[in-house]
Amino acid sequence: MNSNEMIEILSDNTNNDWLFSEADKIRHENVGDEVHLRGLIEFSNICKRQCKYCGLRSANKEVERYRILKDELLTYAQKAVKMGYRTLVLQSGEDDFYDTDKMVEIIREIKKLDVALTLSIGEKTYDEYKAFKNAGVDRYLLRIETTDKKLYGNMHPNASYENRKQCLYDLKRLGYETGTGCLVGLPNQTIESLADDILFFKELDADMVGIGPFIPHEQTPLADAKKGDFWLALKVMALIRINLPDINIPATTAMETLNPNGRIIALKSGANVVMPNVTSKEYRAKYEIYPNKICINENPEQCRGCIEGKIKAIGRTISGEKGFRQRKNNS
Ligand code: 5AD
Ligand code: FES
Repeated sequence: MNSNEMIEILSDNTNNDWLFSEADKIRHENVGDEVHLRGLIEFSNICKRQCKYCGLRSANKEVERYRILKDELLTYAQKAVKMGYRTLVLQSGEDDFYDTDKMVEIIREIKKLDVALTLSIGEKTYDEYKAFKNAGVDRYLLRIETTDKKLYGNMHPNASYENRKQCLYDLKRLGYETGTGCLVGLPNQTIESLADDILFFKELDADMVGIGPFIPHEQTPLADAKKGDFWLALKVMALIRINLPDINIPATTAMETLNPNGRIIALKSGANVVMPNVTSKEYRAKYEIYPNKICINENPEQCRGCIEGKIKAIGRTISGEKGFRQRKNNS
């Protein structure tokens, strides 16, 4: 689709049912009915950056900060593998405590478990990304957040849009399965820019795209901003499935925060991945990117059981594979 077609769909709600069922059909034809579960380890909530929307921004002094060190991190990884996860995702704020050597040590240990490994630890240099790749990392998640340069600048003090984009191209060049995505509903974000975001995902040849509605956090400069719209975020997600048919698309936690059935609705509107948390309860509430995050009081076993039950209830199955992108035709 070109930009105008997408803008038209995003601005008009009369064809939403068509859009969601079309995305569901394209999901079924291209990536099948299996849902890939990725075990998420949020290992540090310490962040040097100042993203205006994020509760973990360094200026927020009300967060109780934590770091999970290697040995404890490995216990979560082992437990997740025993529970059936074939992919682990290590996510953190931009925390320089974990330098390249420390990360490489962690990566080597985790890769002994025969899992696919995804990192989501922010903007790094080409050489750092290369060291992680050589140590065995398979995938990397780095949302562009928005392709509207002016909005990007407003939302990210002291950060560079060009550098973020460069990071994504570096990751692709190094052979990572590259995940990106955007927020939907940032203050002053336009429908036109959302269409541009989708064109960017296509241009990058993103292997995974995660979409979530913006949820205002009390302890940020955007405390009083309007929250993003669940249905608009879902429409962006559905358009991504239609335009990038064979990629992996997660039903995100932010979707479920705004709608109690959000992940299942997403799985029926184009998504094929869920990323349940596999760390213990003591850390969950502290990784408060946005308020009212789900699964704060659950443990890894409860989340696994919960999401498996919901997925099976809609007639889908849980994949036992690592879930790499399988390219179709000439994509
Ligand atoms: N609301 C929704 N999503 C958010 N993220 C950060 N802050 C918020 C918020 N307030 C998302 C960003 C980031 C991902 C880890 O969480 O898109 O890339
Ligand atoms: Fe955590 Fe449902 S996935 S409780």
